[in-house]
Amino acid sequence: MVTSEAAPFAKTGGLADVLGSLPPALVERGEEVAVVLPAYASIDLSGAERIYNELTVWMDGGSRYDCSVERIVRQGVHYLFVNCPPMYQRPGIYGDRHGDFGDNHLRFAVLCRAALAISSRIFRPDVIHCHDWQASLVPVYLKSTFRHDPVFYGIKTLLTIHNLGYQGRFGASVLPDIAVPVQDVMHPEGIEYFGDVNLLKGGIVYSDYITTVSPRYAQEIQTPEFGFGLDPLLRARRFFIAGILNGVDYAEWNPQTDRYLPAWYDEASLAGKLTCKKALLEEFYMPTDKLETRPLLGIVSRFAHQKGLDLVADCIQGIADLGVQMVVLGSGDAALERTFGSFAQARPEQFGYRGGYNEGLAHRIEAGSDMFLMPSRYEPCGLNQIYSLKYGTIPVVRATGGLDDAVTASTGFKFFNSTAHDLYNCIRYATTQFAARESWEQRMRLGMMQDFSWALSAERYAELYRRLRQ
Ligand code: ADP
Ligand code: GLC
Repeated sequence: MVTSEAAPFAKTGGLADVLGSLPPALVERGEEVAVVLPAYASIDLSGAERIYNELTVWMDGGSRYDCSVERIVRQGVHYLFVNCPPMYQRPGIYGDRHGDFGDNHLRFAVLCRAALAISSRIFRPDVIHCHDWQASLVPVYLKSTFRHDPVFYGIKTLLTIHNLGYQGRFGASVLPDIAVPVQDVMHPEGIEYFGDVNLLKGGIVYSDYITTVSPRYAQEIQTPEFGFGLDPLLRARRFFIAGILNGVDYAEWNPQTDRYLPAWYDEASLAGKLTCKKALLEEFYMPTDKLETRPLLGIVSRFAHQKGLDLVADCIQGIADLGVQMVVLGSGDAALERTFGSFAQARPEQFGYRGGYNEGLAHRIEAGSDMFLMPSRYEPCGLNQIYSLKYGTIPVVRATGGLDDAVTASTGFKFFNSTAHDLYNCIRYATTQFAARESWEQRMRLGMMQDFSWALSAERYAELYRRLRQ
């Protein structure tokens, strides 16, 4: 697998969770898996073993990138870190406070070339499973630069799209940097997109098979509404696209064992959840009087347009008037950060807000909240609704992508139009249901008993690898 993120080493979102949990699930099924990712400055490699010293990547014009490869074996998976200090030894994964790094095309081109060098010298794969645009040059190089190189004969590629909203689109001036044969690939049937270079498009065109992270999203991306301009291409490749719902790692996300919680609980004994709720409210300095009668809504999210949190802001007065409490953890869009910050200041007894990234708090919000809000405009899979189900925290979601696939009318609440009006009505309806304690608890238990572990989905990937190998 080739990826820009994998938990617990480097994470900005769900991609990392998947790369931390799918590979071990595959190993359990008897597959051999190596995961190639950059050795970012933030990763502690003190326990790693250097397994290759001079892995030189050559780009056009004779520019060379000297890499070494460090290995950490975790749950039977070989995590191989491409160590190339000029590319990765800086704070940040994709960028810093000034925005995205200006050389990201090059940083991930080097990753892809290094992954191919690893495939020929260190770990010979049957299938290279590429994740998102950062890994999309692998199939491009294999079908162009290395088309006639016997070293790679027989290797198949699978591209998983975790988010079509991020395509890795750059001006044509990056072409020399990424060392692709321009004549071969820089045309509308290749990586060219309205005069620019579009790396994810390259992945979609040149990989042998494509998956998305939920079945619903596999359909949605073939429509103009969700296709981000690539829907015609995706329709053309529709016989080579499947949706496989992400699994989750219950060793990390389980209210019976979660190391971040003040109390444990399960569907047979829910008492601990109330302790978690009280502690969570205290952590936000919010009143804990009506613990059992006043619902607490939770949000943990990147503040990106995709997530629809502006809709929450738009109906915040209505939400406040319902008398509920709400805690929010997340950062990204600066205007939204300010908005949630000012709600918390104006009504500290009802609203709590924390910015930044906080793993422990994310778990405590999952456990301590009564409902979890995900009003996403689109959601390729979404993991928090699945964590919420396990934690007896009723998901309130927009019916899209993996949210629609994972949540049913019996386990959560869904709304359809991406408007503050519909979101508000859905929250209001859920709030009225909260008062009927018995049926609410039934709803909680139903979700808690569902199994979204990797067992099933890992088998589907294994099946796909087998088909590709034939
Ligand atoms: P996406 O990958 O689009 O952000 P997902 O739902 O797939 O959405 O995954 C998000 C992951 O990131 C979850 O594990 C969630 O708990 C975590 N996360 C998001 N924001 C934060 C934050 N501020 N602090 C801690 N964890 C966060
Ligand atoms: C992306 C998507 C998210 C998905 C995650 C893991 O970040 O936005 O919906 O759950 O990838 O596949």
